[in-house]
Amino acid sequence: MTQQAVLVTGACGEIGQALVQGLAKEGGYRIVTTDLMPLPETIKGLSAEHIQGDLVYRVKQFYDYDFDIIFHLAASLSSKAEIATEEAHRINVDGTLQLLMLAAYKSEKYGKAVKFLFPSSIAAYGFPNLEAKHAAGRVKEDEWNLPHTMYGCNKLYCEKLGMYYSLYYGQKHLDPHPPVMLDFRAIRFPGLISAYTLPSGGTSDYGPEMLHAAAQGKDYACFVREDTKISFMAMPDAIKALLMLTKAPRRQLSRMVYNIDAFSLTAGEFRERALKAFPGARITFEPNPRRQGIVDSWPEDVDDSQARADWGWKPDYDIDRFFEEYFLPEIRKRYKK
Ligand code: SER
Repeated sequence: MTQQAVLVTGACGEIGQALVQGLAKEGGYRIVTTDLMPLPETIKGLSAEHIQGDLVYRVKQFYDYDFDIIFHLAASLSSKAEIATEEAHRINVDGTLQLLMLAAYKSEKYGKAVKFLFPSSIAAYGFPNLEAKHAAGRVKEDEWNLPHTMYGCNKLYCEKLGMYYSLYYGQKHLDPHPPVMLDFRAIRFPGLISAYTLPSGGTSDYGPEMLHAAAQGKDYACFVREDTKISFMAMPDAIKALLMLTKAPRRQLSRMVYNIDAFSLTAGEFRERALKAFPGARITFEPNPRRQGIVDSWPEDVDDSQARADWGWKPDYDIDRFFEEYFLPEIRKRYKK
């Protein structure tokens, strides 16, 4: 069987490492990785080739490859992007634009649509205040697309760029025999939690940080209020979703951007769960106004009925299974507690 050629950008990040492992486990892919950093040991043997460097300046190099699938994960996350805003725009938007252009060009040239998988985020939403957030409850994809952060603006705009290059680029769809356009697919991820890696630079980071600290017996001062609520998901479910959406036949997809959901809980409920598992844990709340403001603008839950209907999405881990069957057993092994 011929292998599918895959590019994974941001391969050293949390999703990147887990995705490379997921692709390798499935088999049938030749995986090329790229990142600013060298590959960690966890995935070193799984990448056929690693290109280290800044994607924005390196993209020309990728024109020598013919990728069937591109997973464009490289990004500056929400908290970091608020500190270095223009640099975040360069990474998040310029990098995506360059790769979309490449994928559109290759799709047309070879008459075969390159699949372009893009992790968007709940940061694409934005509520003006907590009352609106609570009143909205589970939001649908096209509601409240009013992001407050540079990261959220970047993600929402890149979704639009992906749709543009897939549907309207050069208005070629109006040709009598339109060329093959690229095949863009995006998932708006909630906060993700891995038992093996920690995020950096995000704002949903308080969830994983609190749990990893508790498991190691370290004190943790949570940077958002106890009542702060957003949705979260186990990393294996995030990878499952990416692989499911990659394989879904295009004709089944009624849209290009999908919400997915697993469970929602408050920072206080995270603390209760952490204390139950690690009774000695010391977790306090010291809200940081800027980071609090970011999370307050994000939905407390999302409506993922479109993903369920179109490509059969369903998470493996609800909140109890997440703790009992994934996070706690793995983290205990990891930190030997
Ligand atoms: N988890 C990301 C962040 O906090 C949101 O997609 O920035």
